[in-house]
Order: sequence, then C-alpha cells, then structure tokens
Amino acid sequence: MTGGPSLPQHRKLVTAIPGPASLERLDRKKALVADGVGTTLPVFVAAAGGGVLVDVDGNSLIDLGSGIAVTTVGNAAPAVVARASEQLAAFTHTCFMITPYDGYVDVCAALARLTPGHHAKKSALFNSGAEAVENAVKIARVATGRDAVVVFDHAYHGRTNLTMAMTAKNMPYKNGFGPFAGEVYRAPMSYPLRDGLSGAAAAARAVDVIEKQVGAANLACVVIEPIQGEGGFVVPAAGFLPALASWCRENGVVFVADEIQAGFCRTGAWFASEEEGVVPDLITTAKGIAGGLPLAAVTGRAEIMDAVHGGGLGGTYGGNPVACAAALGAIEEMESHDLAGRAREIGALMRTRLDALKIAHPVIAEVRGRGAMMAIELTTPGTLEPDAERTARVAAYCHAQGVVVLTCGTWGNVFRFLPPLSISDELLQEGMDVVAEAFTATA
Ligand SMILES: Cc1ncc(COP(=O)(O)O)c(C=O)c1O
Repeated sequence: MTGGPSLPQHRKLVTAIPGPASLERLDRKKALVADGVGTTLPVFVAAAGGGVLVDVDGNSLIDLGSGIAVTTVGNAAPAVVARASEQLAAFTHTCFMITPYDGYVDVCAALARLTPGHHAKKSALFNSGAEAVENAVKIARVATGRDAVVVFDHAYHGRTNLTMAMTAKNMPYKNGFGPFAGEVYRAPMSYPLRDGLSGAAAAARAVDVIEKQVGAANLACVVIEPIQGEGGFVVPAAGFLPALASWCRENGVVFVADEIQAGFCRTGAWFASEEEGVVPDLITTAKGIAGGLPLAAVTGRAEIMDAVHGGGLGGTYGGNPVACAAALGAIEEMESHDLAGRAREIGALMRTRLDALKIAHPVIAEVRGRGAMMAIELTTPGTLEPDAERTARVAAYCHAQGVVVLTCGTWGNVFRFLPPLSISDELLQEGMDVVAEAFTATA
C-alpha cells in the first residue's frame, strides 16, 4: 500500500479499534517483542500520509501525534521519499568517518543556516536524540574542562545511561536501570501554572540552586528544552530562558538548547529558542529533522564544536546518507510550503478549540504551547491535583474513535497535540471534535 499525502484524507472506521487483523498481529508481537517496548494504540499501520494513519484492517485514523513529533512534514512526504529513494539507489552507507559524502555536509550547511545566531557554526550528526544530547555534553565538557551538567525538573533527554540521569521522571524511563551517570544536577524549572513565578524570578531561583549546589566553576553546561516535551509541554515564563542564557554567558557555561521535540518548525518558528531571541551555544536536534528517518545533530559555535580532538566524535551510522537525503527533503518541504507559517495556523485553530473546551470542562486547568505543539493539563477542578485517571479515559475514548492522541507529563495528566503540519483544517477540526466529545462522554 502506498502512503503519503495522496491517501484519502478522512477518518473512517470499518472495525473496532484495534480490529481483528491488528489483534492477530498483537499476539505475534507479544510472543516476539520484549514486553518493555510498550504501545500506546495497538493498531498496526499499513500506510500513512497527510493527516492520517491507515491500519491493516483498513481503518483510517486521524494522526495528532506525528509519531512523537517526528513526521512534522507529513508521513512519506514527497521530497523526503524522492531524495531518500534516489540516495538508496546510489549507495546506502560508507561510514562518513571512512569515506565522506555530500549529503552529510549539506545537512550541516542547512543547520548552520537555519539554527539561531549568525556566528560561525559547525555540526556533528548522530542517529538518535539521546545520542545528540550525550555528544553535546561531551563537547561542552572538553570545551570548558569542567564536569558538571545542570538539567531541570520535568526534563526528558533520552534513555541512554547519561540521558537517563538527565531525565527527571522515574517510571517508566529510569526505574531499576541505575546506577546512573554522575555529575548531573537538577534545578527547578519555570512552570507558570504550578509556581506562579515570573521568568526572572524563576531564573533567579534556578541560578541560586546552581550556584549553591554546583558552583559555576564546576559547571560545563546547562541543558534545557525551550518547551519541555515528555515532561508536559511546559512553557517557561517569558524571560526565564534569556536570563539563564545570559547567566551561562557570564560564567563561561555552555548553554545547550535541546530542541529535539520543539525544533524544525513545530512551534511556528524554525526553533523554539527564537521566540525570546535566545541564541544557544549548542543546539540538539532530531525527530522532525528527517521526516521519519533516524538522524540527529549537535550544532553550535565553531570554537566549542572544534574543542574536541580528531576522532573524538562519530559513530558507525551517524549521518547515514539515506537519512541525510531525507533531512534535505524534509527541509525542502518546510521551506517550500512555509511549514513554520502552517504551524502557526494550526496552533491558532487548536488554541481556539482548546480554550473553548477549557471553559466547558473545568478539569482542564491550562491550555498551553506554541504553534503545532499544544497541550492541556488536567487537574481536579479548582486545584492543582493532577488527574491522570480522567486523562487516560479521554485518551482511550479518542483512540476507540480513531484519533491518535498522546499524553505526557510527570503526572501523566497532560494531553499533547502534535499533528503533522500536512494535516488539513477539516481533519484537524474533526480530530478536535472527537476530543471534545471524549470530554463530554467521560464526564
Ligand atoms: C527533548 C528531547 N530530548 C531528547 C529525546 C530523545 O530522543 P530519542 O528518542 O531520539 O533518543 C527526546 C525524545 O522524546 C526529546 O523529546
């Protein structure tokens, strides 16, 4: 079955969700795939594109998750398919560290052009977001000669040993997997719904913790998601990020923006850091960069990137030629269709719908986010007590009705909406209708 934007763009249920063909495959999955690899919505996908996923039973589901913020340009987007197919037929691998090729350098050129700041920039490419974050820390440590790393409450940076240490939430990411890497310290995040602090006050609180518990002289880098992803789409109060970035600059600390979930047009700009004019020293990217193929990058000030000795960065597959071709295709889609602008339109549509939903359902404590990265947080009405149980029931209803919604948050009480930017307004409105219906049906 061929996917891509030419798939019929509608929600169509021909069986219960999951249907019999998916259920049969689930038995096979249960027998062959490790139980630790979970599944949010157990339908097996046969094709996807535009704003839909089509399953093996022939159901067409509305995609409000983009495979966790990956298929930002849409599944099987034309320029991604064309460039990756051409590259597949030319060669699949040489290892860039053995014999280089243009695609890798072209992706680095695009990253130098598109990431915030006009300084000289260089990049190194990897396979996954976690690997990019690990390498950003390696680079910052060599560049500063210091060991310590500061991260924030509710942060998510990955599942490798160092990035588990950097991730805040225990279940399911860390439980039983320790001991974790050392020299990782956690500072309080700006979380306006829960702390009521201005950006400046929240930054002063974080800096105080850093200075008292770590000491600038020991600190290699501060790593922060400009809008937190798995932690609950927490948008820090205005001024928090710029204050942290300038404290880092004054203290010779490398400021790393983890834009793995928020970057590449998701928030209505190329990168979320741009909203407040923050220019990170290093920026980590992955997910949306390559339209679904595994690629990640660390991009940053040339003098910091070049601090590492020759041969110190790399990996067998990092910057695989097919993934690089896909990234160039994804960037072409973003530029030629002004997908940052489309993310802003999608954000406006979703905010209108979610604001109305909040008025009708006091269990929604807050609507937040930017562009096509929007969320609602559910609490017991009138309190900040997280309501994960209602969140799960609303999600189950949406799934049964053929709308793929994702939850997140330290307490599992946040819905995050991450539609592909190729979704039509009609489909997005229908997805939002089902979400609204789900709140009424579960009240
Ligand atoms: C902000 C952020 N950093 C890092 C990661 C880890 O990326 P990956 O799953 O590709 O290792 C994620 C993944 O969700 C993320 O959202």
